[in-house]
Amino acid sequence: MRHVLSWVVACIACTATTPYTPALTYTSASSYAPASSPAHATSPARSADAVAAFDGLPNGLVDLPTHRADQAAFDRQEEISSGLGPLYNAHSCRDCHENPVAGGGGQTTELRAGHRDAQGNFVFPQVRIGGGSVVVTGRTLINDKAICPGAEFPDNDAQEHLPDSENIRATRLAVSLLGDGYVEAVPDALLEAIARWQCSQPDLGVCGTPMQVPVLESPGTVAIGRFGWKSEHASVLSFSADAYLNEMGVTSALRPTDVTSYCDTVPDPEDHPDATGYTDLERFARFIRATKAPPRDAKLSATAEARNGSTVFETIGCAVCHAPLLTTAPAGTPMFGGQYRVPQALGSVALHPYSDYLAHDVGTGDGIVLAVPENYGPQFVQMQATFAASANKIRTAPLWGLRTRSRLMHDGQSYTLREAIGRHQGEASKVRAAFDALPPQSQEQLLTFLRSL
Ligand code: HEC
Ligand code: HEC
Repeated sequence: MRHVLSWVVACIACTATTPYTPALTYTSASSYAPASSPAHATSPARSADAVAAFDGLPNGLVDLPTHRADQAAFDRQEEISSGLGPLYNAHSCRDCHENPVAGGGGQTTELRAGHRDAQGNFVFPQVRIGGGSVVVTGRTLINDKAICPGAEFPDNDAQEHLPDSENIRATRLAVSLLGDGYVEAVPDALLEAIARWQCSQPDLGVCGTPMQVPVLESPGTVAIGRFGWKSEHASVLSFSADAYLNEMGVTSALRPTDVTSYCDTVPDPEDHPDATGYTDLERFARFIRATKAPPRDAKLSATAEARNGSTVFETIGCAVCHAPLLTTAPAGTPMFGGQYRVPQALGSVALHPYSDYLAHDVGTGDGIVLAVPENYGPQFVQMQATFAASANKIRTAPLWGLRTRSRLMHDGQSYTLREAIGRHQGEASKVRAAFDALPPQSQEQLLTFLRSL
């Protein structure tokens, strides 16, 4: 606590001169320091800010007709004949990602489950479908929908049901993917430097985990995950392939095998290039990379109340995890073993996601271990053991676009900002205590700041 307090004092001093100074600043790949440190003074000039708006227009990566065509793929309702199912959750990406514009979040939650054996090892559910004839395993997701029984298979039943044995259960809310092209282009080294800085401050009790995850489009390559509640993917393309398969049951070049062949009549892979030569997967990834970042509420964020709240947010330590400023790598930087290069429109950009994208135990862990075969494919199963500690860790929720969310936290079970803050424990205990100890007026300022995001 003493450390937090001295940091508070240091940072009140450091924010006094400019209206908006992130308390933590990235200075080079190997150092990451509070704004009050000497390193900050010599840091390079600020990069251009990420393009931000809820207008559905592209961020400069592609032209408008291309973005509209890519969005059409993202919005399109898949049917059984085009590969939907056998198990699925919704007909289109947009069904769950649409608020306030295509690519945003939604109120949909998904069911995940598992149990621990006598030795304490996490075990995936064995879900019987087809009257018990087929066992679906290797995943924690329980799909809410199935294509049979239906017209073609009136007497078959692929609907998944949670077995009684699976006593670890969780729901997970659909998140926003707006601005994720920028997030993807943040160098691994920056996220690792943030983790090193956090872990070198034992008094703070915060020590995030950079999640090392496979990149599907670049076999043999791992990168630091940043997407999903457990930071389970580093690449927008990899996440799209995972989502197409697990949310919609559509197979693609990167996830070529359906979860089950039961009731399945469409040969894999089900995603093919269209007349212009692009697959849906390529269109999803380009659509996501071209989305603008969530903008702040311009009017509210200009108020003295919100500006003071921003200072409170940084000085009591919320910003240690909810990092206010990250910077993307320069245009042309190769990523994922050279499979992708940071495009001109996304290079050297400052973004304000209010997340470190690291996994933390803040006492809200859902007990569900990241399921390697589900997220990356059965060929990666030997990596499963490296994710044992993911059970109770959750990625720092990015707070940009917070004002568009009606339900909060991974499970969507918090409905007000105070409720969400009140659930922070574990690594966030000291910062939570600092919030609780604030005078009511400062708490209100902080909440006003949050409402401006
Ligand atoms: C049934 C609802 C649903 C559908 C349909 C769906 N998603 Fe998602 N999406 C989610 C949920 C829930 C998460 C959080 C997943 C997690 O980590 O547990 C998510 C997370 C994501 C993320 C990570 C974003 C971030 O910043 O963390 C991306 C990217 C994404 N989805 C892309 C897609 C694409 C592309 C499609 C269509 C192929 C799609 N989703 C379809 C519910 C859905
Ligand atoms: C140790 C890291 C850490 C610190 C410190 C921290 N948070 Fe968080 N925050 C998280 C994580 C992790 C989540 C997601 C938890 C979950 O969903 O179970 C989260 C979620 C949230 C959410 C919910 C966002 C959403 O979209 O659901 C809000 C609001 C929030 N934090 C505000 C704050 C405030 C305000 C402070 C300072 C008082 C703070 N946090 C301090 C890690 C942290």
